Amino acid sequence: MMDRCRCCVLAGCAIIVLAVAAVEPVSFKDTFIKDCETKAKSTHCEEVWSAFEQAHVNQDHCQVPPEAYDHLLLSVAPPQPNENRMLFWSEIKAVAHQVAKGCYQMLSDTLLGSVLDGKVWCGKKGSKETFTVGCPGWSFCVNNTVKSFWSRASAAFAAVAKGKVVVLLNGDSPTPFNPTSVFARIEVLGFKRDRVTSLTVVLVTKNEVGANCTNASLDNLQDQLKTGITYICKKMTESQLIECTDANRKTCEACW
Ligand SMILES: NC(=O)c1ccc[n+]([C@@H]2O[C@H](COP(=O)([O-])OP(=O)(O)OC[C@H]3O[C@@H](n4cnc5c(N)ncnc54)[C@H](O)[C@@H]3O)[C@@H](O)[C@H]2O)c1
Repeated sequence: MMDRCRCCVLAGCAIIVLAVAAVEPVSFKDTFIKDCETKAKSTHCEEVWSAFEQAHVNQDHCQVPPEAYDHLLLSVAPPQPNENRMLFWSEIKAVAHQVAKGCYQMLSDTLLGSVLDGKVWCGKKGSKETFTVGCPGWSFCVNNTVKSFWSRASAAFAAVAKGKVVVLLNGDSPTPFNPTSVFARIEVLGFKRDRVTSLTVVLVTKNEVGANCTNASLDNLQDQLKTGITYICKKMTESQLIECTDANRKTCEACW
């Protein structure tokens, strides 16, 4: 009788432990480290986490400037350039991912880009924690934790860009080179004349209508590009671009 009671108590305890483990939320740090090891295949993920954490913990979520990520992006996990294979984009993320796959490197293929793409995080004054709820939206304040990270990461990615660089722009937008976009505000201005030889704009449209290479916003792009960097523009429909990149996947020959 005693043994049966003891068994029941032990079984009860085991169920409680399992239930608690099942509802225990996975911390942002655990997901970060797991993605760092599996997606980015890095071997120094604890060091990367620690530099990432220093940028935002114990900070008001609207007072994290892009420079807060300097140490992380310049020293601990700087983006590694891939000459003639770097791809930028604006307002056309899904197509850019399809085109780049296996052939071009986007910011979201870098160590930090792959770990943080799609994630939201912020800190709080007086707390050592990283939060994922209650963080301000992208446009809520200028220096928000997430926006500042992507601004700083984009600047670092553009600064190391080398050789022939390509950008996919949305030809169905009235201003494919949108002055408020990260590409216009940060990346174009960050290309270095001694590293980047040319910028090819691929203007991607759903069908034959839509903007073409004479679009006024592209004049602004050319004005902002440093002298010495050759400007090339080509209009393509989304289906032409996808068909060609799929056909060229093995050789990675450019479609523009
Ligand atoms: N997740 C990423 O990979 C990422 C995010 C930001 C910037 N970038 C870099 O900058 C360029 C793209 O940025 P862009 O501004 O030119 O194009 P974009 O306007 O399409 O914005 C790019 C991304 O920024 C975020 N974003 C922008 N405005 C937002 C808003 N109002 N609310 C919530 N999220 C918002 C979204 O994640 C969006 O997919 C690329 O060349 C890339 O290198 C990459």
